[in-house]
Amino acid sequence: MKTLAFIASPHKNGNTAVLLNHFLKGISGEVEIIDVYSINVKPCIDCKYCHEHNECALKDDMTDIYKKIENSDNIVIASPVYFSFVPAPLKAVIDRLQVNWSGKFIRNDFKIPLNKKVGVLIMTAGSNMENIFEPIEYAIKQFFSITGSEFSHRIYAINTDNVPIEKNEELKRKAFEIGKSIKI
Ligand SMILES: Cc1cc2nc3c(=O)[nH]c(=O)nc-3n(C[C@H](O)[C@H](O)[C@H](O)COP(=O)(O)O)c2cc1C
Repeated sequence: MKTLAFIASPHKNGNTAVLLNHFLKGISGEVEIIDVYSINVKPCIDCKYCHEHNECALKDDMTDIYKKIENSDNIVIASPVYFSFVPAPLKAVIDRLQVNWSGKFIRNDFKIPLNKKVGVLIMTAGSNMENIFEPIEYAIKQFFSITGSEFSHRIYAINTDNVPIEKNEELKRKAFEIGKSIKI
């Protein structure tokens, strides 16, 4: 079983990383972590090249990431909330999935089997707004759908300004248990 995890926090030992690591401790098989702050993925420029070609006109680290997504069984997105959405480097990765979207809705050659992968969303937010993740969920649903993943698990932490994940034993345990439960 292969798990591909995107981490979208600039803090190597921050709230999101701690939560992701507990999830990954539970998971079996091969794990690859992509730190979106350390890769070179340019934003989509809507050049429409992918309307006719099953590839992106921009050549950067995304070229390999498309293959890695395709060859994974589980896709994990781990991100803090930035202004009610995800940080810019992760948004760039999401938008570059336009190649897949065009395959499905424009080129009509989309061959990715639907709902084959397990999709996991891990989010942390400083405030205690319960519904802060709703707009992000909507976007990530699209991301999972277009990568052939089912939105299978969500692990959300609010109020990290007051209770850092390191001190949130219940949530860390929950993340580990969810990781452990994933089998293919
Ligand atoms: C630029 C920026 C924007 C943020 N926007 C929000 C926000 O809209 N809502 C919120 O609850 N927390 C917000 N936060 C707080 C982070 O989501 C929170 O501290 C998170 O747990 C940080 O995760 P990390 O330690 O993994 O980096 C923001 C933080 C930054 C730096």
